[in-house]
Amino acid sequence: MSRYYETYTSWKQDPEGFWAGAARAIDWVKPWEKVQAQVDGLDRWFVGAECNTCWNAVDRHVKAGHGDRLAVIYDSAITGKSARFTYRELLDEVATLAAALEDLGLRKGDRVILYMPMIPEAVFAMLACARLGAIHSVVFGGFAPPELATRINDAKPKMILSASCGLEPGRVISYKPLLDQALDVAAHKVEACVIFQREQVSAELKEGRDHDWGAITGVARGQGRTTDCVTVKATDPLYILYTSGTTGQPKGVVRDNGGHMVALQWSMENIYDIRPGEVFWAASDVGWVVGHSYIVYAPLLQGAATIVFEGKPVGTPDPGTFWRIVSDHGVTALFTAPTAFRAIKKEDPEGTYIGKYDIKSLRTLFLAGERADPDTVKWAEDKLKVPVVDHWWQTETGWSIAANPVGLGLLPVKHGSPTVAMPGYAIEVLDEGGHPLPPGRLGSICVKLPLPPSCLPTLWNNDERFRKSYLSHFPGYYETADAGYMDEDGYLYIMARTDDIINVAGHRLSTGGMEEVLAGHPNVAETAVIGIADELKGQVPVGFVVLKAGVARMAAEIEKECVARVREKIGAVAALKTVAVVPRLPKTRSGKILRATMRKIADREEFKTPATIDDPAILDEIRAALAAKGIGV
Ligand code: COA
Ligand code: AMP
Repeated sequence: MSRYYETYTSWKQDPEGFWAGAARAIDWVKPWEKVQAQVDGLDRWFVGAECNTCWNAVDRHVKAGHGDRLAVIYDSAITGKSARFTYRELLDEVATLAAALEDLGLRKGDRVILYMPMIPEAVFAMLACARLGAIHSVVFGGFAPPELATRINDAKPKMILSASCGLEPGRVISYKPLLDQALDVAAHKVEACVIFQREQVSAELKEGRDHDWGAITGVARGQGRTTDCVTVKATDPLYILYTSGTTGQPKGVVRDNGGHMVALQWSMENIYDIRPGEVFWAASDVGWVVGHSYIVYAPLLQGAATIVFEGKPVGTPDPGTFWRIVSDHGVTALFTAPTAFRAIKKEDPEGTYIGKYDIKSLRTLFLAGERADPDTVKWAEDKLKVPVVDHWWQTETGWSIAANPVGLGLLPVKHGSPTVAMPGYAIEVLDEGGHPLPPGRLGSICVKLPLPPSCLPTLWNNDERFRKSYLSHFPGYYETADAGYMDEDGYLYIMARTDDIINVAGHRLSTGGMEEVLAGHPNVAETAVIGIADELKGQVPVGFVVLKAGVARMAAEIEKECVARVREKIGAVAALKTVAVVPRLPKTRSGKILRATMRKIADREEFKTPATIDDPAILDEIRAALAAKGIGV
């Protein structure tokens, strides 16, 4: 019998008591005055409390006598290198780096941008910032310099920590030139850059501004200097993580220290069923929220070991890599995006590679980041013979809104559903007028305020955008911007976004942002970007551009330039490979572009021609343009 229902009910009956109980798992410097309260009009958790996240993730385990337990396992399927760090070694790395950063002037409240590949130093850097009370903001390595510059301008970091390169299969990406380009165009000027030199590339350092990571930590280590944890308020920001919004300007999701720790540690125990000393592997990237929560903070808060994996599910070198890692490191639970399993299934449909490894340590597979299609879930269940748990969450929440809580006892699995609301989330499906809908009816999925611990209290330096984006449409609720329904048993089904966010290989991207980039092409008058269904990546973007009057250039050339432009301005991660020049875009008589109809044509879904369409003939033009690219035929 699962303890889920009694647990959810106990939260509902006494939310503050519930979270105060969960908070006992955390070390506090000073206890809270209020478990939950409004401060300056924003909902906050553990108000008045003081703490340090790095202490809870690292020091306290060493102090409790667990210094010899494994903390971080690095495994690069690209270089073949691996390394292991115990909690004691992790503490030494983090406290030494923190001392070196302090020497460079880093203090509590300062922002630090991290532009890092998947190496253990990325984890050390995040924890060193947390140790000093500095606010990190990790930018995913697949973003191009203009995106990095946007984040530099918004977060206004004192310093940037980076590495000389990232490694993609068959490709070494030198980070320093990208970082220099971003710094050249950013209006905000940083005081220092600290660069970790990897053996594949040696980055050129600029006198005065740039520092060699190995050299500065070497000096601190040589002098035996480390830094203690700096006490911060529970409500102080731990990090800012930028995520796609409806425009090209990303949203700076703020995560606090106290609530974040409480929710994450609760989740490790009750959702993921992980105990101290076990090995948890989130095969994601520290640039995404999954990486923040489940590569770095949650496993370490729980005293478990985490894996920093540099590689891909396929091609590094084969679809057996995941099983090799599980076997080599005794992984208890694996967490990844469904797209990774679609990639493996495509290359190894029979699961032959699974049989080559001893994966009996694996107890559960967790999937999130995009809808887990039932075929993929069934394949994984069949081949791995362990429960496959889909769970639904967002950058904004930092942990799952809905899940099947393995630690409380698995509930019956329904394919296509991430199961039920977690404690802290009172979920309702609302119609356009804000009225709750009965089971089975599709609507906007909303969470009654206040949001639980770990969820964003606001957007960085932008309370107004926070309120407007999430709280204004349905007063009293947080709008998830996901549409779906709940069945009679309270199981949720997440069907689509209600905004123009698309999900490409588990990466969240803004079609609005891509449209802004395409509109910047000198020959382009109008644009539309839609997300179309893709067997491997779930969705991929497709762009349409209408040229300015009088442009007589070859369409194919402009299309190629548009593709290159998005790669240059947003990054390879946008995965925009198809742009079509079209004579016109379909619009309503009031001028609204009919993106949903275009998507249905591409996905060969049935649709009714909107009654308000300006000229139905345009839909045939779109169909022909897509067919010419082999789409929708
Ligand atoms: N730095 C630089 N470039 C990067 C990068 C990084 N950190 N991460 C990805 N890219 C590049 C890739 O090289 C690729 O470039 P290309 O267009 O030249 O091939 C592009 O960005 C798209 O990358 P990706 O989305 O990873 O697609 P892929 O085709 O290389 O691999 C999958 C497809 C399914 C194997 C891959 O997406 C994957 O492993 N997904 C796992 C899910 C995941 O990690 N989700 C994160 C949230 S949980
Ligand atoms: P991100 O902020 O990058 O984590 O993306 C969050 C979005 O990804 C959500 O709003 C959903 O649209 C989608 N998503 C994440 N997990 C799931 C899931 N398990 N099922 C369906 N959609 C999901």
